[in-house]
Amino acid sequence: MKVLVVGGGGREHALAWKLSNDSCKPDVFCAPGNAGSSSCATNVDIGAEDLSGLMAWARENRPDLTVVGPEVPLCEGLTDLLEAEGLRVFGPSKAAAQMEGSKIFAKDVMNAAGVPNAKSASFTDAAEAKAYIRSEGAPIVVKAEGLAAGKGVTVCTSVEQAEAAIDEALVAGAFGAAGDCVLVEECLIGEEASILAMIDGEHVVMLASSQDHKRALDHDEGPNTGGMGAYSPAPVVTDELWPFIREEVFGRTLAELKRRGITFKGILYAGLMMTEAGPKVLEFNVRFGDPETQVILPRIAGDLLPAFEACVDGTLSDSLIQWRDEHCVTIVMASGGYPGSYEKGKAITGLAAADGMAGVTVFHAGTAHEGESVVTSGGRVLAVTAVGSDLRSAVELAYTAVPEIRFEGAHYRSDIAARAL
Ligand code: AMP
Ligand code: GLY
Repeated sequence: MKVLVVGGGGREHALAWKLSNDSCKPDVFCAPGNAGSSSCATNVDIGAEDLSGLMAWARENRPDLTVVGPEVPLCEGLTDLLEAEGLRVFGPSKAAAQMEGSKIFAKDVMNAAGVPNAKSASFTDAAEAKAYIRSEGAPIVVKAEGLAAGKGVTVCTSVEQAEAAIDEALVAGAFGAAGDCVLVEECLIGEEASILAMIDGEHVVMLASSQDHKRALDHDEGPNTGGMGAYSPAPVVTDELWPFIREEVFGRTLAELKRRGITFKGILYAGLMMTEAGPKVLEFNVRFGDPETQVILPRIAGDLLPAFEACVDGTLSDSLIQWRDEHCVTIVMASGGYPGSYEKGKAITGLAAADGMAGVTVFHAGTAHEGESVVTSGGRVLAVTAVGSDLRSAVELAYTAVPEIRFEGAHYRSDIAARAL
């Protein structure tokens, strides 16, 4: 069986790693992959956003299943293109991917469906946005409406900061077309957690809870990033919340999408804030999270492919995913300067020593081969992942492995999962 994983980050290395260990031993291809995925898959030198390149490869190589990692190709309709060639895909259609691609579309669906979320208004005019901000007061959240690689959200503690965020998006065009329209949103207070659900159009299988750390620095300070670490499970998602999230978040959302003639297949990721009034949706993504995937997949006991295939066939059920009773933590090691500008091509040492520790897996994110050595090639470089019988032992193991790995400028947070401990 031939499986193509589209993408080249830590999430895709984790997907390729997990799939390649499935009992049917599939041939896994990763486009473009990274230095890490090359050890469990065949890298294909085509970028995840090169839809015509991917289609040409798929027509020639006819993968039995394509798993799309990142949001950009999903929002641009890669699933629809592959399906039109008679190929099987794990990932939503272009229409369904609007749940991530357009924050206004997602808000509209949530409000029509009665899904709990933050009060918001959208603007294309800076003066109108600022007037609204002044009438609402701070704290308040300003979001670019379109895709901005996880960087389009500013949580503002003052009206002045919110006005500056409006200028940045609407006047200076810092997010390009994605920020030509902004959402101004009520600031929700509470603990965050992510719940990812696998969906086959009809059935919903919720995956283990996780929590991401979006800020660059310890104590949740510094700028937002793609994610600096994660752990699973997230204890804020208590047992009694699961039925609520299933019905009020996923059930209602899918029913409203269906009413609009949209079938959702793939992963729907709900970023939730656990407020005093219950869970509220911060955002939806239409794919696995990065680095959440790196802490969820190591906790799946059996095969993953049967669940992906059931999603395509519409035969998904909870029994297809078995969980290990273990905790998992990942620490992202990033390039100096990330999430701002950074240099690439720094030699990485100590990978084998860290990866060789029992219970540790080093997922690569931004790495490449340069001759015999592995070098940095992105902002987030590695996701050093450890499992343990409890959260504390997983955290300790991960932080024992991290210092084994060195590259110039490396930085990482030292407080991943600290709040849960
Ligand atoms: P998003 O890309 O929408 O997940 O936003 C990035 C981060 O901004 C989230 O993980 C939250 O920490 C924060 N955030 C987004 N929306 C809100 C909100 N309405 N209230 C408080 N924090 C928010
Ligand atoms: N870690 C957040 C995301 O994948 O969007």
